[in-house]
Amino acid sequence: MNILHTSFECYPIAKVGGLADVVGALPKYQNDLGINATVVMPFPDNKFTQEAELKKVHSGTIHLGEEIHQYSIQNIVSPDLGFMVSLLHIPRVLDRANIYGYNDEAERSIAFQLAVMDWVVTTQSIPDIIHCHDHHTALIPFLMSHAEPYEALRRVPSILTIHNAQYQGQLSYDRLEYLPPFDKTQIGLLDWDNCINPLASGIKCAWKVTTVSPNYMKELQKQANGLEALLRSENKKCTGVLNGIDTSTWDPETDPMVVKNYKMTNVVSGRKENKKWICDHFNLDIEKPLFAFIGRLVGEKGADLLPEISKEVLQKNEVNVLILGSGIPEVEEQLQSLCKEFEGTYNTFIGYDEKLSHIIYAGADFLLMPSRVEPCGLNQMYALRYGLIPIVRRTGGLKDTVIDIGDGGFGICHDSALVWDVCYSIQRAVTLYNDQKKYKAIQKKIMKIDHSWDRSANQYKYIYESLIQRK
Ligand code: ADP
Ligand code: GLC
Repeated sequence: MNILHTSFECYPIAKVGGLADVVGALPKYQNDLGINATVVMPFPDNKFTQEAELKKVHSGTIHLGEEIHQYSIQNIVSPDLGFMVSLLHIPRVLDRANIYGYNDEAERSIAFQLAVMDWVVTTQSIPDIIHCHDHHTALIPFLMSHAEPYEALRRVPSILTIHNAQYQGQLSYDRLEYLPPFDKTQIGLLDWDNCINPLASGIKCAWKVTTVSPNYMKELQKQANGLEALLRSENKKCTGVLNGIDTSTWDPETDPMVVKNYKMTNVVSGRKENKKWICDHFNLDIEKPLFAFIGRLVGEKGADLLPEISKEVLQKNEVNVLILGSGIPEVEEQLQSLCKEFEGTYNTFIGYDEKLSHIIYAGADFLLMPSRVEPCGLNQMYALRYGLIPIVRRTGGLKDTVIDIGDGGFGICHDSALVWDVCYSIQRAVTLYNDQKKYKAIQKKIMKIDHSWDRSANQYKYIYESLIQRK
């Protein structure tokens, strides 16, 4: 079975968040199940591609309105990845340093999708299924079923996985000129609320729609920034498949990024060395529990609550707080402005640092995830694997993966994204930390939880097989 994943991110080639981790791990696990899963993504002009060995395997042209663009497909030659990645290069369009954040985002995503279609059709290397991830590649199901040049793909099943329905990629109708000729009676399949809505189109046209956790699908059918009715009406083809984690990359015993490796038998001493490094580096108090946040500093993650939460809990001088992330400038500023007032128990690293994130998973005492929206969340699963107790808001995938200690579980959960609720959870965490016997027992328990991709990769295999039968 040949599966082609189409995505804008894939770890370790280009990562902004969890999408990269998923697309960088799932194909590896799928290949272990005997599937031939490959990935196609935009060529990023970054350290990875500057150092990688690349092999050009195809070139062609696409029309974007009046403009004609040359594209090429360059494969990464590296057995380390565990699956084949094809980079789609279009000079001046898909060869940028960053993945997102440009004014011509619409042109970039349409150019990518047209070139993927053209490559697949002209080389006749038609996969058994095309698996699209998020809105940047969500026009593909429509193109496969209705665009004239891609007739050969009509009976090829497509899957759309929604990692985040906040971002839908809406385009105004003047962008229609970028699309190839298609059956105009089907134009409604592109539309939602009088604009071209790639995510909505993907939900309408894909043969199967998945979200990255079962609970997120339930939530989206109630509230999905305008798409809830659509998801309800397409309910038959919708399902939630919980993400997994790559347990070979995320393994405290072998992780090359942490200060000290450890396993269950020496978790306490191992984590203490990582904590010591963090406390030395960020001027924190090793005797006090360390509460950390890792993530995008945006409203979805509840990051705007962090300044007030930090002020509130730091006043008692019982805890440390460390924030790693970047995002909304005002939130960044507010978080940084607390450094002076709480010197010695509070610090921030504003930016992105993969290595530091691994050390924090290996050394902090509690992980804060006060998310308003969390389609799945990978941080809490990394935390569990490393013996770091998560404090989460019961939403999306967090609800599917973290059970409160009060209910016989292993984490600390709260229901609302409100400062007092998070502070109350932190207070409960301090009580737990002061009972070291109980704390250490939970630490060991969480390290045994299996969140590897094995189970979910099988679930996707089952979905693929049932779609192929319908072909
Ligand atoms: P999302 O994709 O919504 O940002 P996830 O929980 O799915 O959230 O995944 C976030 C991923 O990005 C995790 O691997 C996390 O460790 C990583 N990450 C987020 N922010 C940073 C940062 N500032 N530095 C390093 N890693 C980060
Ligand atoms: C998105 C979601 C996050 C999820 C990730 C991977 O970025 O915000 O919750 O874990 O995708 O699926």
